[in-house]
Amino acid sequence: LEGEALRPHRLDDYIGQNKVKENLQIFIQAALARGEALDHVLLYGPPGLGKTTLANIIAQELGVSIRTTSGPAIERPGDLAAILTALEPRDVLFIDEIHRLSRTTEEILYSAMEDGCLDIVIGKGPSARSIRLSLPPFTLVGATTRAGQLASPLRDRFGVINRLEFYEVEDLIEIVRRASGILHLEITAEGASEIGRRSRGTPRIANRLLKRVRDYAQVWENGVVTEELAKKALDRLEVDPAGLDRIDHNTLKTIIHYFSGGPVGLDTLAATIGEEAETIEDVVEPYLLQKGFLQRTPRGRVATARAYEHLGLPYPNAQEGQI
Ligand code: ADE
Repeated sequence: LEGEALRPHRLDDYIGQNKVKENLQIFIQAALARGEALDHVLLYGPPGLGKTTLANIIAQELGVSIRTTSGPAIERPGDLAAILTALEPRDVLFIDEIHRLSRTTEEILYSAMEDGCLDIVIGKGPSARSIRLSLPPFTLVGATTRAGQLASPLRDRFGVINRLEFYEVEDLIEIVRRASGILHLEITAEGASEIGRRSRGTPRIANRLLKRVRDYAQVWENGVVTEELAKKALDRLEVDPAGLDRIDHNTLKTIIHYFSGGPVGLDTLAATIGEEAETIEDVVEPYLLQKGFLQRTPRGRVATARAYEHLGLPYPNAQEGQI
Protein backbone atom coordinates (compact mmCIF):
# COMPACT_ATOMS: atom_id res chain seq x y z
CA LEU A 1 0.00 0.00 0.00
CA GLU A 2 2.84 2.36 0.83
CA GLY A 3 4.62 1.51 -2.41
CA GLU A 4 1.53 2.88 -4.08
CA ALA A 5 1.69 6.10 -2.06
CA LEU A 6 5.31 6.71 -3.09
CA ARG A 7 4.60 6.41 -6.81
CA PRO A 8 4.32 9.66 -8.75
CA HIS A 9 0.96 10.13 -10.48
CA ARG A 10 1.87 12.85 -12.98
CA LEU A 11 4.69 13.23 -15.45
CA ASP A 12 5.75 16.45 -13.69
CA ASP A 13 6.35 14.54 -10.45
CA TYR A 14 8.31 11.79 -12.18
CA ILE A 15 12.04 12.19 -11.53
CA GLY A 16 14.69 11.03 -14.04
CA GLN A 17 14.41 9.31 -17.45
CA ASN A 18 14.28 12.78 -18.96
CA LYS A 19 14.36 11.73 -22.61
CA VAL A 20 11.53 9.24 -22.17
CA LYS A 21 9.55 11.80 -20.19
CA GLU A 22 9.98 14.61 -22.71
CA ASN A 23 9.01 12.39 -25.62
CA LEU A 24 5.93 11.01 -23.87
CA GLN A 25 4.89 14.54 -22.94
CA ILE A 26 4.84 15.53 -26.64
CA PHE A 27 3.10 12.39 -27.89
CA ILE A 28 0.44 12.62 -25.17
CA GLN A 29 -0.20 16.30 -25.83
CA ALA A 30 -0.51 15.66 -29.58
CA ALA A 31 -2.89 12.71 -29.11
CA LEU A 32 -5.03 14.80 -26.76
CA ALA A 33 -5.15 17.71 -29.23
CA ARG A 34 -6.32 15.35 -31.98
CA GLY A 35 -8.79 13.62 -29.68
CA GLU A 36 -7.25 10.29 -30.61
CA ALA A 37 -5.89 7.34 -28.66
CA LEU A 38 -2.14 7.52 -28.06
CA ASP A 39 -0.14 5.15 -30.27
CA HIS A 40 0.92 1.88 -28.63
CA VAL A 41 3.87 2.24 -26.27
CA LEU A 42 6.56 -0.32 -25.47
CA LEU A 43 8.62 0.20 -22.30
CA TYR A 44 11.62 -2.01 -21.74
CA GLY A 45 14.52 -2.22 -19.33
CA PRO A 46 15.58 -3.84 -16.05
CA PRO A 47 12.98 -4.31 -13.28
CA GLY A 48 12.21 -1.53 -10.82
CA LEU A 49 12.89 1.42 -13.14
CA GLY A 50 9.27 2.58 -13.34
CA LYS A 51 7.57 0.81 -16.24
CA THR A 52 4.33 0.24 -14.31
CA THR A 53 4.49 3.73 -12.86
CA LEU A 54 4.83 5.23 -16.35
CA ALA A 55 1.91 3.18 -17.68
CA ASN A 56 -0.30 4.58 -14.93
CA ILE A 57 0.95 8.11 -15.52
CA ILE A 58 0.23 7.81 -19.26
CA ALA A 59 -3.39 6.89 -18.52
CA GLN A 60 -3.67 9.68 -15.95
CA GLU A 61 -2.26 12.28 -18.37
CA LEU A 62 -4.58 11.06 -21.13
CA GLY A 63 -7.52 11.28 -18.74
CA VAL A 64 -8.57 7.69 -19.39
CA SER A 65 -8.86 4.47 -17.39
CA ILE A 66 -6.17 1.83 -17.26
CA ARG A 67 -6.70 -1.92 -17.29
CA THR A 68 -3.67 -3.79 -15.99
CA THR A 69 -2.74 -7.38 -16.69
CA SER A 70 0.35 -9.44 -17.50
CA GLY A 71 1.56 -11.87 -20.14
CA PRO A 72 1.37 -14.97 -17.92
CA ALA A 73 -2.08 -13.96 -16.57
CA ILE A 74 -3.67 -14.12 -20.03
CA GLU A 75 -3.92 -17.85 -20.49
CA ARG A 76 -6.15 -18.09 -23.56
CA PRO A 77 -7.08 -15.86 -26.49
CA GLY A 78 -10.58 -15.60 -25.01
CA ASP A 79 -9.15 -13.94 -21.90
CA LEU A 80 -7.60 -11.23 -24.04
CA ALA A 81 -10.79 -10.88 -26.10
CA ALA A 82 -12.80 -10.32 -22.91
CA ILE A 83 -10.41 -7.60 -21.78
CA LEU A 84 -10.26 -5.83 -25.15
CA THR A 85 -14.01 -5.75 -25.70
CA ALA A 86 -14.55 -4.23 -22.24
CA LEU A 87 -12.32 -1.19 -22.89
CA GLU A 88 -13.78 2.29 -23.26
CA PRO A 89 -12.60 4.41 -26.20
CA ARG A 90 -8.97 5.61 -25.80
CA ASP A 91 -8.40 3.56 -22.62
CA VAL A 92 -4.95 2.22 -21.76
CA LEU A 93 -4.40 -1.53 -21.62
CA PHE A 94 -1.19 -2.28 -19.70
CA ILE A 95 0.37 -5.70 -20.27
CA ASP A 96 3.36 -6.31 -18.02
CA GLU A 97 5.83 -9.07 -18.97
CA ILE A 98 4.39 -8.92 -22.46
CA HIS A 99 7.13 -11.25 -23.73
CA ARG A 100 5.41 -14.06 -21.85
CA LEU A 101 2.16 -14.04 -23.86
CA SER A 102 1.32 -17.33 -25.50
CA ARG A 103 1.76 -17.56 -29.26
CA THR A 104 -1.96 -17.74 -30.04
CA THR A 105 -2.79 -14.84 -27.74
CA GLU A 106 -0.03 -12.78 -29.28
CA GLU A 107 -1.51 -13.31 -32.72
CA ILE A 108 -4.91 -12.02 -31.57
CA LEU A 109 -3.11 -8.94 -30.35
CA TYR A 110 -1.61 -8.19 -33.79
CA SER A 111 -4.91 -7.42 -35.49
CA ALA A 112 -6.23 -5.67 -32.37
CA MET A 113 -3.23 -3.33 -32.38
CA GLU A 114 -3.04 -2.78 -36.11
CA ASP A 115 -6.60 -2.83 -37.40
CA GLY A 116 -8.59 -2.35 -34.19
CA CYS A 117 -10.43 -5.60 -34.70
CA LEU A 118 -10.66 -9.03 -33.21
CA ASP A 119 -11.06 -12.25 -35.16
CA ILE A 120 -12.64 -14.92 -33.04
CA VAL A 121 -13.47 -18.47 -33.91
CA ILE A 122 -16.82 -19.74 -32.68
CA GLY A 123 -17.57 -23.43 -32.42
CA LYS A 124 -15.44 -26.42 -33.29
CA GLY A 125 -14.81 -28.70 -36.23
CA PRO A 126 -16.78 -28.35 -39.50
CA SER A 127 -19.31 -25.92 -38.01
CA ALA A 128 -16.64 -23.55 -36.70
CA ARG A 129 -16.77 -20.06 -38.13
CA SER A 130 -14.88 -16.89 -37.62
CA ILE A 131 -16.40 -13.54 -36.76
CA ARG A 132 -14.76 -10.16 -36.73
CA LEU A 133 -15.46 -7.69 -33.91
CA SER A 134 -14.36 -4.09 -34.15
CA LEU A 135 -12.81 -2.66 -31.02
CA PRO A 136 -12.82 0.82 -29.52
CA PRO A 137 -9.55 2.67 -30.19
CA PHE A 138 -7.13 1.95 -27.34
CA THR A 139 -3.49 2.35 -26.32
CA LEU A 140 -1.54 -0.77 -25.51
CA VAL A 141 1.31 -0.13 -23.10
CA GLY A 142 3.57 -3.18 -23.05
CA ALA A 143 6.41 -3.70 -20.58
CA THR A 144 9.26 -6.18 -20.74
CA THR A 145 12.71 -6.59 -19.25
CA ARG A 146 14.19 -7.32 -22.67
CA ALA A 147 12.86 -6.07 -26.00
CA GLY A 148 15.00 -8.73 -27.69
CA GLN A 149 12.65 -11.40 -26.30
CA LEU A 150 9.68 -9.98 -28.22
CA ALA A 151 8.67 -11.46 -31.54
CA SER A 152 9.42 -8.83 -34.16
CA PRO A 153 5.83 -8.67 -35.56
CA LEU A 154 4.74 -7.62 -32.06
CA ARG A 155 7.60 -5.18 -31.52
CA ASP A 156 6.93 -3.59 -34.90
CA ARG A 157 3.37 -2.73 -33.94
CA PHE A 158 4.44 -0.32 -31.21
CA GLY A 159 4.62 3.28 -32.45
CA VAL A 160 6.56 4.45 -29.39
CA ILE A 161 9.45 2.37 -28.08
CA ASN A 162 11.26 3.53 -24.95
CA ARG A 163 14.20 1.99 -23.19
CA LEU A 164 14.44 2.83 -19.48
CA GLU A 165 17.97 3.31 -18.18
CA PHE A 166 19.40 2.99 -14.69
CA TYR A 167 18.92 6.29 -12.83
CA GLU A 168 21.63 8.81 -12.10
CA VAL A 169 22.59 9.02 -8.41
CA GLU A 170 21.34 12.65 -8.31
CA ASP A 171 17.89 11.48 -9.46
CA LEU A 172 17.83 8.71 -6.88
CA ILE A 173 18.73 11.17 -4.13
CA GLU A 174 15.83 13.35 -5.21
CA ILE A 175 13.52 10.33 -5.24
CA VAL A 176 14.65 9.46 -1.68
CA ARG A 177 13.99 13.01 -0.55
CA ARG A 178 10.58 13.07 -2.18
CA ALA A 179 9.65 9.73 -0.58
CA SER A 180 10.92 10.93 2.83
CA GLY A 181 8.57 13.90 2.55
CA ILE A 182 5.62 11.63 1.80
CA LEU A 183 6.58 9.36 4.73
CA HIS A 184 7.07 12.38 7.07
CA LEU A 185 10.58 11.12 7.73
CA GLU A 186 13.35 13.44 8.88
CA ILE A 187 16.47 12.86 6.77
CA THR A 188 19.65 14.87 6.29
CA ALA A 189 21.05 15.70 2.83
CA GLU A 190 23.95 13.32 3.53
CA GLY A 191 21.58 10.58 4.69
CA ALA A 192 19.60 10.86 1.44
CA SER A 193 22.85 10.84 -0.58
CA GLU A 194 24.02 7.67 1.07
CA ILE A 195 20.77 5.84 0.26
CA GLY A 196 20.64 7.23 -3.30
CA ARG A 197 24.21 6.14 -3.99
CA ARG A 198 23.57 2.61 -2.80
CA SER A 199 20.27 2.08 -4.63
CA ARG A 200 21.70 0.21 -7.61
CA GLY A 201 20.37 2.80 -10.05
CA THR A 202 16.82 1.68 -9.20
CA PRO A 203 13.98 3.73 -7.60
CA ARG A 204 12.21 0.62 -6.31
CA ILE A 205 15.37 -0.29 -4.41
CA ALA A 206 15.79 3.32 -3.19
CA ASN A 207 12.30 3.31 -1.70
CA ARG A 208 12.76 -0.12 -0.15
CA LEU A 209 16.10 0.80 1.41
CA LEU A 210 14.63 4.06 2.69
CA LYS A 211 11.92 2.17 4.56
CA ARG A 212 14.36 -0.27 6.09
CA VAL A 213 16.73 2.54 7.11
CA ARG A 214 13.74 4.28 8.66
CA ASP A 215 13.18 1.17 10.80
CA TYR A 216 16.77 1.33 12.07
CA ALA A 217 16.43 5.06 12.72
CA GLN A 218 13.29 4.45 14.73
CA VAL A 219 14.81 1.71 16.88
CA TRP A 220 18.44 2.85 17.21
CA GLU A 221 17.98 6.60 17.22
CA ASN A 222 15.34 9.26 17.52
CA GLY A 223 13.97 8.55 14.05
CA VAL A 224 16.27 10.92 12.17
CA VAL A 225 18.17 9.47 9.18
CA THR A 226 21.68 10.88 9.28
CA GLU A 227 24.65 9.87 7.13
CA GLU A 228 26.13 7.80 9.94
CA LEU A 229 22.89 6.00 10.63
CA ALA A 230 22.24 5.36 6.92
CA LYS A 231 25.74 3.90 6.51
CA LYS A 232 25.35 1.62 9.53
CA ALA A 233 21.90 0.47 8.47
CA LEU A 234 22.90 -0.16 4.84
CA ASP A 235 25.96 -2.14 5.94
CA ARG A 236 23.65 -4.20 8.11
CA LEU A 237 21.41 -4.74 5.07
CA GLU A 238 24.46 -6.03 3.16
CA VAL A 239 24.29 -3.27 0.58
CA ASP A 240 27.84 -2.13 -0.19
CA PRO A 241 28.98 1.45 -1.00
CA ALA A 242 28.54 0.81 -4.75
CA GLY A 243 25.03 -0.51 -4.15
CA LEU A 244 25.92 -4.15 -4.75
CA ASP A 245 23.88 -6.59 -2.67
CA ARG A 246 24.44 -10.16 -1.57
CA ILE A 247 23.46 -11.73 -4.90
CA ASP A 248 25.78 -9.35 -6.77
CA HIS A 249 28.67 -10.32 -4.47
CA ASN A 250 27.78 -13.97 -4.75
CA THR A 251 27.75 -13.76 -8.54
CA LEU A 252 31.11 -12.01 -8.84
CA LYS A 253 32.79 -14.18 -6.20
CA THR A 254 31.48 -17.35 -7.82
CA ILE A 255 32.96 -16.34 -11.18
CA ILE A 256 36.24 -15.43 -9.52
CA HIS A 257 36.66 -18.33 -7.09
CA TYR A 258 35.00 -21.22 -8.95
CA PHE A 259 35.77 -20.28 -12.55
CA SER A 260 39.09 -18.41 -12.26
CA GLY A 261 37.37 -15.17 -13.19
CA GLY A 262 35.61 -16.65 -16.23
CA PRO A 263 34.54 -16.99 -18.91
CA VAL A 264 31.68 -19.12 -17.57
CA GLY A 265 28.38 -19.85 -19.31
CA LEU A 266 25.17 -18.39 -17.90
CA ASP A 267 23.56 -21.74 -17.10
CA THR A 268 26.65 -23.07 -15.33
CA LEU A 269 26.92 -19.85 -13.36
CA ALA A 270 23.24 -19.88 -12.41
CA ALA A 271 23.40 -23.51 -11.27
CA THR A 272 26.47 -22.79 -9.11
CA ILE A 273 24.90 -19.76 -7.46
CA GLY A 274 21.53 -21.47 -7.08
CA GLU A 275 19.51 -18.82 -8.91
CA GLU A 276 17.41 -18.99 -12.08
CA ALA A 277 19.36 -18.15 -15.24
CA GLU A 278 16.62 -15.65 -16.09
CA THR A 279 17.04 -13.87 -12.75
CA ILE A 280 20.78 -13.61 -13.29
CA GLU A 281 20.31 -12.30 -16.81
CA ASP A 282 17.43 -9.86 -16.20
CA VAL A 283 18.02 -8.68 -12.63
CA VAL A 284 21.65 -9.22 -11.62
CA GLU A 285 23.70 -8.74 -14.76
CA PRO A 286 22.43 -5.47 -16.21
CA TYR A 287 23.74 -3.38 -13.31
CA LEU A 288 27.04 -5.27 -13.04
CA LEU A 289 27.56 -4.80 -16.80
CA GLN A 290 26.73 -1.12 -16.64
CA LYS A 291 29.10 -0.57 -13.72
CA GLY A 292 31.88 -2.44 -15.52
CA PHE A 293 32.16 -5.27 -12.98
CA LEU A 294 31.15 -7.89 -15.52
CA GLN A 295 31.69 -8.56 -19.20
CA ARG A 296 29.70 -10.73 -21.57
CA THR A 297 31.88 -12.50 -24.10
CA PRO A 298 30.93 -15.13 -26.70
CA ARG A 299 32.40 -17.76 -24.36
CA GLY A 300 30.60 -16.58 -21.25
CA ARG A 301 30.69 -14.14 -18.34
CA VAL A 302 33.97 -12.65 -17.15
CA ALA A 303 34.73 -10.73 -13.93
CA THR A 304 36.64 -7.53 -14.76
CA ALA A 305 39.71 -6.07 -13.06
CA ARG A 306 37.35 -3.54 -11.52
CA ALA A 307 35.38 -6.36 -9.89
CA TYR A 308 38.53 -7.79 -8.31
CA GLU A 309 39.51 -4.35 -7.10
CA HIS A 310 36.05 -3.67 -5.68
CA LEU A 311 36.10 -6.95 -3.77
CA GLY A 312 39.65 -6.30 -2.52
CA LEU A 313 41.08 -9.26 -4.44
CA PRO A 314 44.34 -9.30 -6.43
CA TYR A 315 43.78 -9.36 -10.20
CA PRO A 316 45.54 -12.51 -11.55
CA ASN A 317 46.90 -11.01 -14.80
CA ALA A 318 48.54 -8.18 -12.97
CA GLN A 319 50.12 -10.74 -10.61
CA GLU A 320 51.51 -12.83 -13.43
CA GLY A 321 52.91 -9.73 -15.06
CA GLN A 322 54.84 -9.00 -11.93
CA ILE A 323 56.45 -12.41 -11.66
N1 ADE B 1 9.24 6.84 -7.02
C1 ADE B 1 9.61 5.76 -7.71
N2 ADE B 1 10.08 6.12 -8.91
C2 ADE B 1 10.02 7.47 -8.98
C3 ADE B 1 10.35 8.42 -9.97
N3 ADE B 1 10.90 8.07 -11.14
N4 ADE B 1 10.13 9.71 -9.69
C4 ADE B 1 9.61 10.06 -8.52
N5 ADE B 1 9.27 9.21 -7.56
C5 ADE B 1 9.47 7.92 -7.78
